[in-house]
Amino acid sequence: MTQLELKDVTVYYDEVCAVKNVDLTVSQGDFLGIIGPNGGGKSTLLKTIIGIVAPSEGAVIKAPDLRIGYVPQFSSFNKSFPISVYDVVLMGRLSKGIRIGKKYKKEDHDAVKRILKTLSLSGLAERHISELSGGQLQKVLIGRAMVSNPNMLILDEPTSNLDGAARSEIYELLKLLNKAMTVVIVSHDMAAISSYVRQVACLNETLYYHGDTEHVGDGIERAYGCPVDIIAHGKPHRVFIEHEGVRL
Ligand SMILES: Nc1ncnc2c1ncn2[C@@H]1O[C@H](COP(=O)(O)OP(=O)(O)OP(=O)(O)O)[C@@H](O)[C@H]1O
Ligand SMILES: [Mg+2]
Repeated sequence: MTQLELKDVTVYYDEVCAVKNVDLTVSQGDFLGIIGPNGGGKSTLLKTIIGIVAPSEGAVIKAPDLRIGYVPQFSSFNKSFPISVYDVVLMGRLSKGIRIGKKYKKEDHDAVKRILKTLSLSGLAERHISELSGGQLQKVLIGRAMVSNPNMLILDEPTSNLDGAARSEIYELLKLLNKAMTVVIVSHDMAAISSYVRQVACLNETLYYHGDTEHVGDGIERAYGCPVDIIAHGKPHRVFIEHEGVRL
C-alpha cells in the first residue's frame, strides 16, 4: 500500500535549486535508503516530505493515516541543552498536540517508558544528554521520533559520527523497527545501505535511480558523478566502471 508519493517535486531556496523534478513512491513496510553527495538535496527532500519545506512545484501526497517520526541530521541537535534522556523522549509527545508547559498525561509517560525499554535505554532515563555517547544520543533521538507512534520513521544520517559497532547497533535497531513501520534513511554509509535497506534512491538534485539495491550501480555513479565503492552482500566490491581521468 502506498503511504507517500512525490510527484514531480521541485524545491528552490530563492535562486538555489535543491531538488528537481523528483518522483518517488514509498510503500508500507519499505526500507528505503537515500544516498547522494553532500549538497545533493537529501535533507531538503526529507524536509519536504515532513512538511517543513514547501515544494516550489509538484505535490507530496500522503496516505490519510500516515504518521511520520522524524530524526533530523545529527548536527542540528544542541547537546548542551539541560535536559534528561527521559525528557527528550517525552518531548516527542508534543507533536500529539500538547504544548510546552502543558501537563503530560499518564499515557504520555507510559509511552516514554515503553520506548525506553524497547531501545534498552531505561537505565539511562535520568542521565543528562551531554553525558551520553554519540550512539546513545542517536538512540534517544530515535526514541523521541518513535514515541508518537509513527508508521513511518524518517532519519537523516543517523549514523554519521558513529563508529562501526554503534552504527551496526543503530542499523540492527532499524531492521527491527522495520518489521512494524516503514523506514526511510539518508546515509553516506554504502556498506550499511547495501546490507540493510531494500530499496534505494540516488539523489543529486534530481533522482538518478529508485529501485531495489541489486541494480543500483549505474544510478549511484551518475548521482555522484564518479565511481563509488559499495559492499555488496558483505563483500567489498568496486562495482562501478571508473571514469576516464578520475583517480581513485
Ligand atoms: N535553508 C536553506 N537556504 C538556502 N539554501 C539551502 C538551505 N538548505 C539547504 N540549502 C541548499 O540546498 C542544497 C541542498 O542542501 P541539502 O541540505 O538538502 O543537501 P544534503 O544532500 O542533505 O547534503 P549533506 O549530505 O551535506 O547533508 C545545497 O546547495 C544547500 O546549500
Ligand atoms: Mg543533509
